Amino acid sequence: MLFTIHPSNLVSALSTALELSTDGLSKHHWRTALIAGRIAEHIGLKEGQQQILVYAALLHDIGAVSNWSERKKLQEFKVTDDVYRHAEAGYELVKNSQQLGILAETIRHHHDKWDGSSPSGLAGKDIPITSRIINLADRLEILLKDKVYIFEQRPAMLSAIRELSGSSFDPELVRALHEFARQESFWLDLTNPNYYQNFFRQIDIYGRMVFNIDDVVNIAEVFATIIDRTSRFTGMHSRGVAQVSAFLAQARGYSREEIKLIKIAGLFHDLGKLAIPNELLESPNKLTDKEFSIIKQHPYYTYRILEQIDGFSLIAEWAAFHHETLDGAGYPFRMPESSLRLGSRIVSVADVFVALSENRPYRQPLAVCEVERIMRGMADNRKIDSRVVADLFSDSGSLSNLCEQVAQMSWTTGEI
Ligand SMILES: [Fe+2]
Ligand SMILES: [Fe+2]
Ligand SMILES: [Fe+2]
Repeated sequence: MLFTIHPSNLVSALSTALELSTDGLSKHHWRTALIAGRIAEHIGLKEGQQQILVYAALLHDIGAVSNWSERKKLQEFKVTDDVYRHAEAGYELVKNSQQLGILAETIRHHHDKWDGSSPSGLAGKDIPITSRIINLADRLEILLKDKVYIFEQRPAMLSAIRELSGSSFDPELVRALHEFARQESFWLDLTNPNYYQNFFRQIDIYGRMVFNIDDVVNIAEVFATIIDRTSRFTGMHSRGVAQVSAFLAQARGYSREEIKLIKIAGLFHDLGKLAIPNELLESPNKLTDKEFSIIKQHPYYTYRILEQIDGFSLIAEWAAFHHETLDGAGYPFRMPESSLRLGSRIVSVADVFVALSENRPYRQPLAVCEVERIMRGMADNRKIDSRVVADLFSDSGSLSNLCEQVAQMSWTTGEI
């Protein structure tokens, strides 16, 4: 089986993961990318740089996404000095990635001010052009209020940007923005809730190169890091689930390629957790019904995001069905046993195993014999697959090896 993914398709889908909030999807990244793309077209930015620009715009706040108080700060138009923290964190996240590393410098400087007053000390044209464009596009997007008629807010938005021309923003870019901002269609695109689909289709032009399966594993690892940072109890949870899933898949005779696919599913399984505020993930108290319903949304978003990626239909199922149960009482799809493929059952067993072996706000990690007792009980109650549970505990030697590998990764984690 040849596994190839178009980068534009993958980046667009993962960008929507950065837009998750308790109220559904926000629009900040794709709208920033839309504005940035228009500026780039208007000034005639080279095609290779346009690709970096649009991809970086789609992921630019990746360094803030795990931290809700940081995210909140970014919604203010006026930037304070602590805004640079997430830009640096985003740079650190992607700099060593073979696939996303090319976006690192752009992300690092996306709030740098033209006049050189930012901590990096870079000024004027020393700031990468892609960062200068995102800075301007990002601030314009922040000014946009969803509930106000767009042509009523246009003058105030443009004058707020103009006031910072030469201090925060590159004056040439501000001029370019004012030129094409005469087009009504630009503003209508920005406020049309369905336009993002057209936009993602347009950037397919950048999808001519392809990612292979190892590229996707590497990108999934970057996302696993931000997912696991949403709580200090989930230090390396996603990597642990990926590792245990791979072990179980091997026991069931999966091919080398299928094992890589299930690893990807493990790394992404809690992607939808980016929709859950940190306090909720870390709460030591018994959750209210409403709080629990918010937490239970996460596999739904995992599925809806991953299914947008061509070639990901199996991965989406394997990843997102980890809270479905064989008795049909799981969430969020309440799948019957007959619809739960082996891969989904494996990720589900791996998730329970890793979660029980990890620290929680309300308990210490459990000993392996206790984990086995609980999991065999769950299998008896048709919550998880008994054959897969049996695979996990069949050979104490390989289990203790596996536990050691997981323990090295996940010394603190959370059961979500
Ligand atoms: Fe930002
Ligand atoms: Fe932003
Ligand atoms: Fe989960």
